[in-house]
Amino acid sequence: MMDVQTQKIEALIGEMTLEEKIGQLQQCGPSLVGAFEVSFEELLDMMFDGRISQEEFGRLMSTAEKDFHEDDLRAGKIGSYNGVGDALTANRLQKIAVEESRLGIPLLFGYDVIHGFRTVTPIPLAESCAWEPELWQKTARMSAEEATAAGVHMTFAPMVDVAKDARWGRVSEGAGEDTLLNGDYGAAKVRGFQGPDLSQADAMAACLKHFAAYGAGEAGKDYNRVDMSAQRLREEYLPAYKACVDAGARAVMPAFNDLNGVPCTVNEWLLRDVLRDEWGFEGITVSDANAIAECVNHGVTTNRQAAAKEALQAGIDMDMTSNVYAENLAGLIEAGELAVDLLDQAVYRILKLKVELGLFENPYRTDEEKEKRTLVRPENRALAREAATKSMVLLKNDAVLPLNPQQKIAVFGALANDPGQMTGAWAIGAQENDCVSLVQAMDAQEISYAYHPGIVDGIVAKDEINQLAETADVVILAIGEQKEESGEAASKADISLPTIQLELAETLLRTGKPVVAVLFNGRPLAIPTVAEQVPAILEAWHPGIEAGNAILDILYGAVNPSAKLTTTFPFATGQCPLYYDHISTGRPGGKSKFTSKYLDTPLEPVYPFGYGLSYTTFSYSNLQVRTTDDAVRLTVTVTNSGAREGEEIVQCYVQDIVAKRARPVKQLKAYQKVLLQPGESITVEFAVPFEKLGYYDQKMDYTFEAGEFAFFVGGNSRDNLSETIHLSFI
Ligand code: GLC
Repeated sequence: MMDVQTQKIEALIGEMTLEEKIGQLQQCGPSLVGAFEVSFEELLDMMFDGRISQEEFGRLMSTAEKDFHEDDLRAGKIGSYNGVGDALTANRLQKIAVEESRLGIPLLFGYDVIHGFRTVTPIPLAESCAWEPELWQKTARMSAEEATAAGVHMTFAPMVDVAKDARWGRVSEGAGEDTLLNGDYGAAKVRGFQGPDLSQADAMAACLKHFAAYGAGEAGKDYNRVDMSAQRLREEYLPAYKACVDAGARAVMPAFNDLNGVPCTVNEWLLRDVLRDEWGFEGITVSDANAIAECVNHGVTTNRQAAAKEALQAGIDMDMTSNVYAENLAGLIEAGELAVDLLDQAVYRILKLKVELGLFENPYRTDEEKEKRTLVRPENRALAREAATKSMVLLKNDAVLPLNPQQKIAVFGALANDPGQMTGAWAIGAQENDCVSLVQAMDAQEISYAYHPGIVDGIVAKDEINQLAETADVVILAIGEQKEESGEAASKADISLPTIQLELAETLLRTGKPVVAVLFNGRPLAIPTVAEQVPAILEAWHPGIEAGNAILDILYGAVNPSAKLTTTFPFATGQCPLYYDHISTGRPGGKSKFTSKYLDTPLEPVYPFGYGLSYTTFSYSNLQVRTTDDAVRLTVTVTNSGAREGEEIVQCYVQDIVAKRARPVKQLKAYQKVLLQPGESITVEFAVPFEKLGYYDQKMDYTFEAGEFAFFVGGNSRDNLSETIHLSFI
């Protein structure tokens, strides 16, 4: 017996023409008219290859007239838009759809709300270093309130692509190299975006991405092939996406890459067997931008028409901006090459999402007044600042930090004085004048300082630097990456700092003043020299609009840093991919020549996964491990052995020492953030369910192997207490 909602949708589908059905599958991106008659993507290319400047790009994007193909909209040929981010435009287009098209089906507005909308929070890789699902959910909720006030109904987030190769620019957009953390991060974001009731005006459908294993692109090159065993795919990559589906995500975006030769966009095994049949996903799938058309480039379809056929058969409901469905589906169905039932199923899922969002009852969920009073509210800024302070990782501190207000400060490096760079990649709703740089925050807080960019016209201004540094007690050095150096299409073959930045660091070190390096970057960097020579290093990432205030909160000790790395910092690019949950190999690296290592580079990273310092210290003792009927239970005593209150992220790792397939030397299985007063000790408990200790054997059976299991507990993935027990799983 169909429920009422289903009956209504089925009845509506019964009234729709073939063209109107196909229109619901069409997601349109505004094309730009005016000086540059090009698409948004082409405009991006023009910026990235230098044909137009970033400023020109920004001016064009904000001023260029946009063509929303309104005649097509009136004719019922458009069901959704990507990239409409203001209430006025959204309501204007919605009015055309609802009042001027034959059936009045409301539009669905999608947008990339990746780490904040107007109140931009730290890039996801940064925020993941908080190891705090409650925070991740709160910032997602805040961004949903802002984005829905601007007319957005669905975000193309969370991105939970496990990323173990720092060369990949999109490592900035997810929760790092670990499976568990990406899953917890993604599930928290889904809960935050969607809220308790999707029909609420401030609820935003979550579209998890990129399904699947986009972060495993060969050589860290974006869009590159992904080829891995079925075992590894299921053990290390799929769980994070499944966690988002289990959290109720209403949409899934397949990845650009192929998976073992079959592009995800036309990968029926992935989109139907796994996503729908195994996981029971009932939401919509939306292709990545132009991805259906790109199946021709992949060499798996002869032309766009074949791509349209394969994509619908594989299970792509909505075509993001390739027009391949609009051009070809009617002909394929009329020629009997595609069953209209496949089309109706896709239309049903899309209409069902619009019903769940309440768009039929309330197509105008916002207005300009609501948008104005919601964006960048003081409480949103405060949350952005909290998230930033919880994301910044103290990597080194040889008794330099926290600073005291009496110290005279000299600040060097353009990134200290460039508010627009603070938002990082994928902050398309950001406005530079919302952002606070380090220098601007020092001005606002009336901290006296001297500032110099350090590098002028490509040269380190040694004389001026020495003069300014002479007057200072402490020198702050701002180095790292521009926001364009990470994110999409931003892979690097060299993740070390530019030579000129190293020269600037050296010049400052030579002044003999204590140097504090503040890193602004969207990926792990290979910084062995800085790590060795600079006495204090704060990893600030691209921290969002409250960057400057958050950095000062940490540098002056108003906030005690607690973040821990969710991504390994290699010694050299050549070590990539470098990650903590590696397997041992038959010749684990060591002293002997004939072991798995490099002749010219240490085996170990500069900073390991899970690493991060505090202004206090923590000690671990009394690790106890026992089993109950369904889990391994651990207790450990954690003590704040320092002189000030602090939070510690206690981490629990496991190694299945012997199995039929080699298992990682460590895998994160649980973590807890605890607040301790000076001298305080607490007992932290972990439960690791037996089902988390299995693996896929060669026949792809999920197996539990009786034997020795090592359990590690500590404040990072390297320095741990450990206990080994025998598990029989009986
Ligand atoms: C991009 C990205 C995807 C994003 C989409 C829509 O190419 O791959 O993550 O959501 O286009 O803007």
